[in-house]
Amino acid sequence: MEHIVVRGLTTAVDVEGDGRSLLFIHGFPFDRTMWRHQIATLSEWQRIAPDLRGMGLSDAPAASYSIGDYADDLVGLLDTLEVETCVLCGLSMGGYIAFELLRRVPSRIEALVLVNSRAASETDEGRAGRDQMIDLVRASGTGQLAEQLIPKVLAASTLATMPQVVEQLRTMIAAASEEGVVGGLAALRDRQDSSELLRSISIPTLVIAGAEDQIVPVDEARRMAQATPRAVFTVISDAGHLTPLEQPVATNRVLSEFLAALP
Ligand code: MLT
Repeated sequence: MEHIVVRGLTTAVDVEGDGRSLLFIHGFPFDRTMWRHQIATLSEWQRIAPDLRGMGLSDAPAASYSIGDYADDLVGLLDTLEVETCVLCGLSMGGYIAFELLRRVPSRIEALVLVNSRAASETDEGRAGRDQMIDLVRASGTGQLAEQLIPKVLAASTLATMPQVVEQLRTMIAAASEEGVVGGLAALRDRQDSSELLRSISIPTLVIAGAEDQIVPVDEARRMAQATPRAVFTVISDAGHLTPLEQPVATNRVLSEFLAALP
């Protein structure tokens, strides 16, 4: 792991290997280690996995959290690493950030992988839920977050049989700072709708869904893939909302096949 200063913030990032670049963007409120099986495996690629501002080991400023801020940080990171173009692989909020990068720097993106993600903006109910969660975190800190999120983001079989995955998830959530969690919730609440953008995506796209994802149902992910001209769609069994960590072998197989077929 390296520390690189990007846009004035110290950013923790794993950079492994040589070759074409693959930028992994984690979800909320996780960190770069959720991609550890992909980073360990896809050895023909330069794998780049940063902690987003406010999460993992990256700096957590008091203000400026939006999907646009995260996207600008990643453009700054690519510039610093002298990466001209890359494949984006984003999980959930990482996918929302990938859509923003497609708006901002389309010529730098060769292909797109959306994992456990969606194109829709927040519903009114969802926005109210984010505000409630912000109030809760401001009042009592991030201590209860892991216990609330773990049963929602993992498949039943993961919870029952993979204590190491549960523990890693708990560690990642605990590492996120209060500023980062509150900022991330506001960014999620205010994110733009990307449904129209899908139709204009002309690069190869892979959409991966977890069969037991309670946050992004399989049908919603399938509809997103159907609306994206060159998308291929895969459902991975025995996975919830953290498919790359819950089912690394199946995820790596699908990812490798997609990457190997890129022009
Ligand atoms: C994530 O994993 O990034 C979050 O589930 C995103 C969300 O809550 O919309």
